[in-house]
Amino acid sequence: MNTPRTTPQTHPTETTMNPINVLLLGSGGRESALAWKISRSPLLKQLFIAPGNGGTGAYGKNVAISPLDFPSIEKFVADNAIDLIVVGNEDPLVAGIYDYFAPLGIPVVGPSKKGAALEGSKDFAKKFMVENNIPTARYRSFTAETISEGDAFLESLRPPYVLKADGLAAGKGVLIIDNLDEAKKSLREMLGGMFGKSSATVVIEEFLKGIECSVFVLTDGNGEYRILPVAKDYKRVGEGDTGLNTGGMGAVSPVPFANREFMQKVEDRIIRPTIEGLKKSDIIYRGFIFLGLINVDGEPMVIEYNVRMGDPETEVVMLRIESDLLPLLVKTANGELGDAPLLISPDTAVTVMAVSQGYPGSYPKGKVISGTEKITESILFHAGTKLEQDTLVTSGGRVIAISSIGKDIPSALEKSYSAMEKLSFEGKNFRRDIGKDLM
Ligand code: AMP
Ligand code: GLY
Repeated sequence: MNTPRTTPQTHPTETTMNPINVLLLGSGGRESALAWKISRSPLLKQLFIAPGNGGTGAYGKNVAISPLDFPSIEKFVADNAIDLIVVGNEDPLVAGIYDYFAPLGIPVVGPSKKGAALEGSKDFAKKFMVENNIPTARYRSFTAETISEGDAFLESLRPPYVLKADGLAAGKGVLIIDNLDEAKKSLREMLGGMFGKSSATVVIEEFLKGIECSVFVLTDGNGEYRILPVAKDYKRVGEGDTGLNTGGMGAVSPVPFANREFMQKVEDRIIRPTIEGLKKSDIIYRGFIFLGLINVDGEPMVIEYNVRMGDPETEVVMLRIESDLLPLLVKTANGELGDAPLLISPDTAVTVMAVSQGYPGSYPKGKVISGTEKITESILFHAGTKLEQDTLVTSGGRVIAISSIGKDIPSALEKSYSAMEKLSFEGKNFRRDIGKDLM
Protein backbone atom coordinates (compact mmCIF):
# COMPACT_ATOMS: atom_id res chain seq x y z
CA MET A 1 0.00 0.00 0.00
CA ASN A 2 1.28 3.47 -0.84
CA THR A 3 1.66 6.00 1.88
CA PRO A 4 -0.35 9.12 1.03
CA ARG A 5 2.01 11.75 -0.36
CA THR A 6 -0.20 14.75 0.11
CA THR A 7 0.97 16.97 2.92
CA PRO A 8 -1.62 19.00 4.82
CA GLN A 9 -2.08 22.42 3.23
CA THR A 10 -2.20 24.24 6.51
CA HIS A 11 1.16 24.85 7.99
CA PRO A 12 1.22 23.79 11.67
CA THR A 13 1.65 27.33 13.02
CA GLU A 14 -1.19 28.65 10.85
CA THR A 15 -3.80 26.78 12.84
CA THR A 16 -2.57 28.57 15.96
CA MET A 17 -2.81 32.05 14.42
CA ASN A 18 -5.83 34.08 15.45
CA PRO A 19 -7.88 35.87 12.78
CA ILE A 20 -6.52 39.34 12.08
CA ASN A 21 -7.57 42.75 10.79
CA VAL A 22 -5.67 43.95 7.75
CA LEU A 23 -5.28 47.42 6.24
CA LEU A 24 -4.28 47.42 2.57
CA LEU A 25 -3.03 50.70 1.09
CA GLY A 26 -3.63 51.67 -2.53
CA SER A 27 -6.35 52.04 -5.13
CA GLY A 28 -5.32 50.30 -8.35
CA GLY A 29 -5.78 46.98 -10.07
CA ARG A 30 -2.86 45.61 -8.07
CA GLU A 31 -4.63 46.41 -4.80
CA SER A 32 -7.87 44.87 -6.13
CA ALA A 33 -6.00 41.64 -6.80
CA LEU A 34 -4.30 41.71 -3.39
CA ALA A 35 -7.63 42.45 -1.70
CA TRP A 36 -9.30 39.58 -3.57
CA LYS A 37 -6.58 37.16 -2.48
CA ILE A 38 -6.44 38.34 1.14
CA SER A 39 -10.25 38.27 1.39
CA ARG A 40 -10.21 34.52 0.69
CA SER A 41 -8.05 33.77 3.71
CA PRO A 42 -9.53 31.93 6.70
CA LEU A 43 -7.07 33.94 8.78
CA LEU A 44 -8.80 37.23 7.91
CA LYS A 45 -11.15 38.91 10.38
CA GLN A 46 -11.69 42.19 8.54
CA LEU A 47 -10.04 43.81 5.52
CA PHE A 48 -9.91 47.57 5.00
CA ILE A 49 -8.63 49.20 1.83
CA ALA A 50 -7.42 52.81 1.87
CA PRO A 51 -8.63 54.38 -0.30
CA GLY A 52 -9.62 51.47 -2.57
CA ASN A 53 -11.77 51.89 -5.68
CA GLY A 54 -15.17 51.05 -7.15
CA GLY A 55 -14.44 47.33 -7.01
CA THR A 56 -12.51 46.76 -3.79
CA GLY A 57 -15.64 47.15 -1.67
CA ALA A 58 -16.50 43.59 -2.74
CA TYR A 59 -13.54 42.29 -0.71
CA GLY A 60 -13.49 44.58 2.31
CA LYS A 61 -14.35 48.05 3.48
CA ASN A 62 -13.00 51.08 1.64
CA VAL A 63 -11.77 53.90 3.87
CA ALA A 64 -11.13 57.41 2.57
CA ILE A 65 -7.54 57.86 3.77
CA SER A 66 -4.54 58.67 1.59
CA PRO A 67 -1.73 56.08 1.77
CA LEU A 68 0.66 58.99 2.39
CA ASP A 69 -1.24 60.40 5.38
CA PHE A 70 0.63 58.46 8.08
CA PRO A 71 -0.98 60.21 11.11
CA SER A 72 -4.49 59.41 9.84
CA ILE A 73 -3.44 55.83 9.12
CA GLU A 74 -2.03 55.60 12.66
CA LYS A 75 -5.34 56.73 14.13
CA PHE A 76 -7.30 54.31 11.94
CA VAL A 77 -4.99 51.45 12.93
CA ALA A 78 -5.55 52.19 16.63
CA ASP A 79 -9.33 52.67 16.33
CA ASN A 80 -9.82 49.48 14.31
CA ALA A 81 -7.30 47.15 15.97
CA ILE A 82 -5.37 46.63 12.74
CA ASP A 83 -2.85 43.80 13.03
CA LEU A 84 -1.08 44.16 9.69
CA ILE A 85 -0.52 46.89 7.10
CA VAL A 86 0.04 45.75 3.51
CA VAL A 87 1.41 48.48 1.25
CA GLY A 88 0.42 48.23 -2.41
CA ASN A 89 2.13 51.22 -4.01
CA GLU A 90 5.67 52.54 -3.72
CA ASP A 91 5.06 56.11 -2.56
CA PRO A 92 4.34 55.35 1.12
CA LEU A 93 7.32 52.98 1.22
CA VAL A 94 9.70 55.54 -0.23
CA ALA A 95 8.24 58.08 2.23
CA GLY A 96 9.12 55.73 5.11
CA ILE A 97 5.88 54.09 6.23
CA TYR A 98 7.76 51.05 7.55
CA ASP A 99 9.93 53.22 9.78
CA TYR A 100 6.91 55.23 10.96
CA PHE A 101 5.05 52.15 12.21
CA ALA A 102 7.98 50.01 13.42
CA PRO A 103 8.30 51.86 16.76
CA LEU A 104 4.53 51.55 17.23
CA GLY A 105 4.78 47.76 16.93
CA ILE A 106 2.54 47.59 13.87
CA PRO A 107 3.87 45.11 11.31
CA VAL A 108 4.12 46.45 7.77
CA VAL A 109 4.64 44.33 4.65
CA GLY A 110 7.24 46.40 2.83
CA PRO A 111 10.83 47.58 3.11
CA SER A 112 12.21 50.25 5.39
CA LYS A 113 12.85 53.65 3.84
CA LYS A 114 16.47 52.67 3.20
CA GLY A 115 15.32 49.54 1.36
CA ALA A 116 12.70 51.46 -0.61
CA ALA A 117 15.55 53.47 -2.15
CA LEU A 118 16.06 50.48 -4.44
CA GLU A 119 13.08 51.94 -6.29
CA GLY A 120 13.23 55.53 -5.03
CA SER A 121 16.73 56.16 -6.36
CA LYS A 122 18.02 54.56 -9.56
CA ASP A 123 21.52 55.74 -8.64
CA PHE A 124 21.31 53.88 -5.31
CA ALA A 125 19.94 50.78 -7.04
CA LYS A 126 22.74 50.76 -9.61
CA LYS A 127 25.41 51.19 -6.91
CA PHE A 128 23.81 48.35 -4.93
CA MET A 129 23.91 46.08 -7.98
CA VAL A 130 27.53 46.87 -8.78
CA GLU A 131 28.57 46.34 -5.14
CA ASN A 132 26.83 42.99 -5.05
CA ASN A 133 27.93 41.80 -8.46
CA ILE A 134 24.38 41.66 -9.79
CA PRO A 135 24.21 41.72 -13.60
CA THR A 136 22.91 45.05 -14.92
CA ALA A 137 23.66 47.52 -17.71
CA ARG A 138 26.90 49.54 -17.47
CA TYR A 139 26.07 53.03 -16.20
CA ARG A 140 27.16 56.35 -14.75
CA SER A 141 25.25 59.06 -12.88
CA PHE A 142 25.42 62.80 -13.59
CA THR A 143 24.25 66.08 -12.09
CA ALA A 144 24.23 69.66 -13.41
CA GLU A 145 27.86 69.99 -12.28
CA THR A 146 29.03 67.03 -14.34
CA ILE A 147 27.12 67.66 -17.55
CA SER A 148 30.19 67.62 -19.80
CA GLU A 149 31.24 64.27 -18.37
CA GLY A 150 27.71 63.15 -19.19
CA ASP A 151 28.22 64.19 -22.80
CA ALA A 152 31.50 62.30 -22.93
CA PHE A 153 29.88 59.19 -21.47
CA LEU A 154 27.09 59.39 -24.05
CA GLU A 155 29.73 59.63 -26.78
CA SER A 156 31.32 56.42 -25.46
CA LEU A 157 28.05 54.48 -25.82
CA ARG A 158 26.33 53.12 -28.86
CA PRO A 159 22.74 54.21 -29.60
CA PRO A 160 20.03 54.00 -28.47
CA TYR A 161 20.81 55.99 -25.31
CA VAL A 162 19.01 55.26 -22.03
CA LEU A 163 18.53 58.23 -19.67
CA LYS A 164 16.79 57.73 -16.34
CA ALA A 165 15.63 60.23 -13.75
CA ASP A 166 17.12 59.13 -10.44
CA GLY A 167 13.93 59.56 -8.39
CA LEU A 168 10.30 58.48 -8.69
CA ALA A 169 8.61 59.86 -11.79
CA ALA A 170 5.33 57.92 -11.94
CA GLY A 171 6.83 55.46 -14.41
CA LYS A 172 7.69 58.20 -16.90
CA GLY A 173 11.29 58.96 -15.94
CA VAL A 174 13.06 56.82 -18.55
CA LEU A 175 13.92 58.18 -22.00
CA ILE A 176 15.27 55.97 -24.77
CA ILE A 177 16.74 58.09 -27.55
CA ASP A 178 18.25 57.07 -30.88
CA ASN A 179 20.23 60.18 -31.69
CA LEU A 180 23.32 61.43 -29.81
CA ASP A 181 22.52 65.14 -30.09
CA GLU A 182 18.95 64.50 -28.95
CA ALA A 183 20.31 62.51 -26.01
CA LYS A 184 22.62 65.39 -24.98
CA LYS A 185 19.70 67.79 -25.26
CA SER A 186 17.49 65.53 -23.13
CA LEU A 187 20.24 65.21 -20.53
CA ARG A 188 20.14 69.01 -20.16
CA GLU A 189 16.35 69.07 -20.02
CA MET A 190 16.24 66.35 -17.39
CA LEU A 191 18.89 68.00 -15.22
CA GLY A 192 17.03 71.28 -15.74
CA GLY A 193 13.93 69.92 -14.02
CA MET A 194 11.99 67.93 -16.63
CA PHE A 195 10.91 65.58 -13.85
CA GLY A 196 11.29 68.10 -11.06
CA LYS A 197 13.72 67.11 -8.31
CA SER A 198 13.55 63.49 -9.48
CA SER A 199 15.83 64.27 -12.41
CA ALA A 200 18.37 66.42 -10.54
CA THR A 201 20.52 63.31 -10.92
CA VAL A 202 20.36 61.34 -14.17
CA VAL A 203 21.53 57.78 -14.68
CA ILE A 204 22.80 57.07 -18.18
CA GLU A 205 23.17 53.44 -19.09
CA GLU A 206 23.95 51.04 -21.84
CA PHE A 207 20.95 49.83 -23.86
CA LEU A 208 20.16 46.15 -23.41
CA LYS A 209 18.39 44.17 -26.09
CA GLY A 210 16.09 41.34 -25.12
CA ILE A 211 12.66 40.37 -23.81
CA GLU A 212 11.57 41.61 -20.40
CA CYS A 213 9.86 39.76 -17.59
CA SER A 214 8.92 40.53 -14.01
CA VAL A 215 10.06 38.34 -11.14
CA PHE A 216 8.56 38.81 -7.68
CA VAL A 217 10.13 37.74 -4.42
CA LEU A 218 8.66 37.86 -0.94
CA THR A 219 11.38 38.14 1.68
CA ASP A 220 11.30 38.33 5.47
CA GLY A 221 14.52 40.26 6.04
CA ASN A 222 16.09 37.25 7.73
CA GLY A 223 17.39 35.49 4.67
CA GLU A 224 14.22 33.55 3.84
CA TYR A 225 12.41 34.22 0.59
CA ARG A 226 9.81 32.76 -1.76
CA ILE A 227 9.76 33.30 -5.51
CA LEU A 228 6.25 34.13 -6.72
CA PRO A 229 4.96 33.36 -10.23
CA VAL A 230 6.86 35.10 -13.05
CA ALA A 231 4.89 37.44 -15.32
CA LYS A 232 5.31 39.49 -18.46
CA ASP A 233 3.55 42.80 -18.85
CA TYR A 234 2.71 44.77 -21.97
CA LYS A 235 3.71 48.38 -21.44
CA ARG A 236 3.03 50.07 -24.77
CA VAL A 237 -0.47 51.30 -25.54
CA GLY A 238 -0.51 49.95 -29.09
CA GLU A 239 -0.61 46.46 -30.56
CA GLY A 240 2.77 45.06 -31.56
CA ASP A 241 4.36 47.06 -28.70
CA THR A 242 3.93 50.41 -30.41
CA GLY A 243 2.97 53.85 -29.17
CA LEU A 244 3.42 55.45 -25.77
CA ASN A 245 4.35 53.69 -22.56
CA THR A 246 1.50 53.04 -20.15
CA GLY A 247 1.23 51.65 -16.65
CA GLY A 248 0.58 48.30 -18.35
CA MET A 249 -2.04 47.07 -20.82
CA GLY A 250 -2.04 43.41 -19.87
CA ALA A 251 0.01 40.59 -18.41
CA VAL A 252 0.62 36.87 -18.68
CA SER A 253 1.96 34.29 -16.22
CA PRO A 254 3.89 32.01 -16.50
CA VAL A 255 6.38 33.27 -19.08
CA PRO A 256 7.59 30.43 -21.34
CA PHE A 257 11.15 31.74 -21.76
CA ALA A 258 11.58 32.07 -17.99
CA ASN A 259 12.16 28.32 -17.80
CA ARG A 260 13.88 26.34 -15.07
CA GLU A 261 17.38 27.07 -16.38
CA PHE A 262 16.74 30.81 -16.70
CA MET A 263 15.13 30.98 -13.26
CA GLN A 264 18.05 29.13 -11.70
CA LYS A 265 20.34 31.87 -13.03
CA VAL A 266 17.94 34.50 -11.70
CA GLU A 267 17.99 32.93 -8.26
CA ASP A 268 21.76 32.38 -8.13
CA ARG A 269 22.94 35.63 -9.72
CA ILE A 270 20.21 38.07 -8.72
CA ILE A 271 17.83 36.99 -5.97
CA ARG A 272 20.29 35.57 -3.46
CA PRO A 273 22.88 38.34 -3.97
CA THR A 274 20.08 40.90 -3.53
CA ILE A 275 18.91 39.38 -0.24
CA GLU A 276 22.45 38.99 1.02
CA GLY A 277 23.35 42.51 -0.12
CA LEU A 278 20.45 43.96 1.86
CA LYS A 279 21.57 42.09 4.97
CA LYS A 280 25.18 43.13 4.50
CA SER A 281 24.12 46.79 4.29
CA ASP A 282 21.87 46.42 7.38
CA ILE A 283 18.80 47.31 5.36
CA ILE A 284 15.55 46.07 6.86
CA TYR A 285 13.45 44.61 4.09
CA ARG A 286 10.31 42.61 4.85
CA GLY A 287 8.16 42.67 1.78
CA PHE A 288 7.98 42.24 -1.97
CA ILE A 289 10.95 42.74 -4.27
CA PHE A 290 10.05 43.25 -7.92
CA LEU A 291 12.89 42.47 -10.31
CA GLY A 292 12.39 44.01 -13.73
CA LEU A 293 14.56 41.68 -15.79
CA ILE A 294 15.67 41.48 -19.36
CA ASN A 295 16.69 38.24 -21.01
CA VAL A 296 19.82 39.02 -23.03
CA ASP A 297 20.57 35.87 -25.04
CA GLY A 298 19.53 33.64 -22.16
CA GLU A 299 21.31 35.70 -19.49
CA PRO A 300 19.11 37.59 -17.01
CA MET A 301 20.05 41.21 -16.29
CA VAL A 302 18.33 43.68 -13.99
CA ILE A 303 16.64 46.68 -15.61
CA GLU A 304 15.18 47.95 -12.38
CA TYR A 305 14.12 47.12 -8.86
CA ASN A 306 10.71 48.00 -7.53
CA VAL A 307 9.81 47.57 -3.88
CA ARG A 308 6.23 46.49 -4.39
CA MET A 309 4.25 44.17 -6.64
CA GLY A 310 3.74 45.06 -10.31
CA ASP A 311 0.58 46.34 -11.86
CA PRO A 312 -0.91 44.61 -13.91
CA GLU A 313 1.34 41.64 -13.03
CA THR A 314 -0.33 41.20 -9.63
CA GLU A 315 -3.62 40.62 -11.45
CA VAL A 316 -2.16 37.40 -12.88
CA VAL A 317 0.26 36.44 -10.09
CA MET A 318 -2.50 36.30 -7.46
CA LEU A 319 -4.59 33.99 -9.64
CA ARG A 320 -1.76 31.45 -9.69
CA ILE A 321 -0.99 31.39 -5.96
CA GLU A 322 -2.83 28.44 -4.50
CA SER A 323 -1.62 28.85 -0.91
CA ASP A 324 -3.27 31.15 1.54
CA LEU A 325 -1.27 34.37 1.08
CA LEU A 326 -2.18 36.02 4.36
CA PRO A 327 -0.14 33.76 6.69
CA LEU A 328 2.82 34.30 4.36
CA LEU A 329 2.39 38.08 4.64
CA VAL A 330 2.16 37.91 8.44
CA LYS A 331 5.27 35.77 8.62
CA THR A 332 7.09 38.08 6.22
CA ALA A 333 6.27 41.14 8.30
CA ASN A 334 7.39 39.34 11.46
CA GLY A 335 10.66 38.21 9.90
CA GLU A 336 9.79 34.55 10.23
CA LEU A 337 8.88 33.13 6.84
CA GLY A 338 10.63 29.88 7.81
CA ASP A 339 9.51 27.02 5.63
CA ALA A 340 5.95 28.26 5.11
CA PRO A 341 4.75 26.69 1.88
CA LEU A 342 3.93 28.58 -1.31
CA LEU A 343 1.97 26.45 -3.76
CA ILE A 344 1.70 27.71 -7.31
CA SER A 345 -0.81 26.57 -9.91
CA PRO A 346 0.65 25.21 -13.17
CA ASP A 347 -2.20 26.92 -15.06
CA THR A 348 -1.84 30.10 -17.09
CA ALA A 349 -3.29 33.42 -16.00
CA VAL A 350 -3.78 36.43 -18.25
CA THR A 351 -5.15 39.89 -17.75
CA VAL A 352 -6.29 42.38 -20.36
CA MET A 353 -6.71 45.99 -19.32
CA ALA A 354 -9.73 48.00 -20.45
CA VAL A 355 -8.54 51.62 -20.62
CA SER A 356 -10.10 55.02 -21.19
CA GLN A 357 -10.07 56.68 -24.61
CA GLY A 358 -6.92 58.78 -24.94
CA TYR A 359 -4.93 57.00 -22.22
CA PRO A 360 -1.97 57.36 -21.55
CA GLY A 361 -2.60 60.93 -22.70
CA SER A 362 -5.52 62.89 -21.29
CA TYR A 363 -8.80 61.00 -21.02
CA PRO A 364 -12.35 61.62 -19.84
CA LYS A 365 -13.63 60.38 -16.49
CA GLY A 366 -17.08 59.58 -15.17
CA LYS A 367 -18.16 57.29 -18.02
CA VAL A 368 -20.81 54.81 -16.92
CA ILE A 369 -19.56 51.20 -16.88
CA SER A 370 -22.01 48.41 -17.66
CA GLY A 371 -22.06 44.70 -18.38
CA THR A 372 -19.97 43.55 -15.42
CA GLU A 373 -22.80 41.31 -14.17
CA LYS A 374 -22.68 39.33 -17.43
CA ILE A 375 -19.08 38.29 -16.86
CA THR A 376 -18.80 34.97 -15.06
CA GLU A 377 -15.67 33.26 -16.42
CA SER A 378 -13.19 36.03 -15.54
CA ILE A 379 -12.39 38.11 -12.50
CA LEU A 380 -12.68 41.86 -12.87
CA PHE A 381 -9.94 43.61 -10.94
CA HIS A 382 -11.05 47.21 -10.84
CA ALA A 383 -8.37 49.90 -11.26
CA GLY A 384 -9.74 53.32 -12.26
CA THR A 385 -13.36 52.92 -11.20
CA LYS A 386 -15.54 54.47 -8.56
CA LEU A 387 -19.07 54.17 -7.32
CA GLU A 388 -21.21 57.28 -7.64
CA GLN A 389 -24.24 56.47 -5.52
CA ASP A 390 -24.81 53.01 -6.97
CA THR A 391 -23.48 53.68 -10.45
CA LEU A 392 -20.05 52.37 -11.44
CA VAL A 393 -18.12 54.95 -13.44
CA THR A 394 -14.59 55.34 -14.80
CA SER A 395 -12.18 57.40 -12.72
CA GLY A 396 -8.77 56.65 -14.25
CA GLY A 397 -6.85 55.73 -17.38
CA ARG A 398 -6.63 52.04 -16.65
CA VAL A 399 -10.18 51.07 -15.76
CA ILE A 400 -10.58 47.31 -15.23
CA ALA A 401 -8.15 44.40 -15.55
CA ILE A 402 -10.06 41.42 -16.94
CA SER A 403 -8.25 38.42 -15.51
CA SER A 404 -8.71 34.76 -16.36
CA ILE A 405 -7.12 31.42 -15.74
CA GLY A 406 -6.90 28.56 -18.23
CA LYS A 407 -4.81 25.51 -19.06
CA ASP A 408 -2.75 27.54 -21.53
CA ILE A 409 -2.43 31.08 -22.92
CA PRO A 410 -5.08 30.72 -25.68
CA SER A 411 -7.73 29.29 -23.36
CA ALA A 412 -7.16 31.97 -20.72
CA LEU A 413 -7.13 34.73 -23.36
CA GLU A 414 -10.37 33.42 -24.85
CA LYS A 415 -12.10 34.07 -21.52
CA SER A 416 -10.70 37.56 -21.05
CA TYR A 417 -11.49 38.69 -24.58
CA SER A 418 -15.01 37.30 -24.51
CA ALA A 419 -15.55 39.13 -21.20
CA MET A 420 -14.12 42.27 -22.82
CA GLU A 421 -16.96 42.17 -25.34
CA LYS A 422 -19.50 42.21 -22.53
CA LEU A 423 -17.90 45.07 -20.64
CA SER A 424 -18.85 48.47 -21.91
CA PHE A 425 -18.12 52.14 -21.31
CA GLU A 426 -17.80 54.99 -23.78
CA GLY A 427 -14.35 55.14 -25.39
CA LYS A 428 -13.18 51.74 -24.10
CA ASN A 429 -9.80 50.74 -25.55
CA PHE A 430 -7.69 47.60 -25.10
CA ARG A 431 -4.93 45.65 -26.79
CA ARG A 432 -5.99 42.63 -28.82
CA ASP A 433 -2.55 41.01 -28.85
CA ILE A 434 -1.78 40.33 -25.19
CA GLY A 435 0.21 37.10 -24.89
CA LYS A 436 0.36 36.55 -28.66
CA ASP A 437 4.16 36.91 -28.74
CA LEU A 438 4.47 34.05 -26.24
CA MET A 439 2.27 31.57 -28.11
P1 AMP B 1 12.49 51.39 -15.83
O1 AMP B 1 11.59 52.47 -15.29
O2 AMP B 1 13.89 51.46 -15.36
O3 AMP B 1 11.87 50.03 -15.73
O4 AMP B 1 12.51 51.62 -17.41
C1 AMP B 1 11.33 51.63 -18.17
C2 AMP B 1 11.50 50.79 -19.40
O5 AMP B 1 12.55 51.28 -20.19
C3 AMP B 1 11.88 49.36 -19.10
O6 AMP B 1 10.78 48.55 -18.81
C4 AMP B 1 12.55 48.96 -20.38
O7 AMP B 1 11.59 48.62 -21.36
C5 AMP B 1 13.24 50.21 -20.80
N1 AMP B 1 14.63 50.21 -20.35
C6 AMP B 1 15.11 50.68 -19.19
N2 AMP B 1 16.45 50.50 -19.10
C7 AMP B 1 16.84 49.89 -20.23
C8 AMP B 1 18.09 49.45 -20.76
N3 AMP B 1 19.23 49.61 -20.09
N4 AMP B 1 18.08 48.85 -21.95
C9 AMP B 1 16.94 48.69 -22.65
N5 AMP B 1 15.75 49.09 -22.24
C10 AMP B 1 15.67 49.70 -21.04
N1 GLY C 1 4.05 46.76 -14.56
C1 GLY C 1 5.20 47.46 -14.19
C2 GLY C 1 5.13 48.10 -12.87
O1 GLY C 1 4.25 47.83 -12.06
O2 GLY C 1 6.00 48.91 -12.56
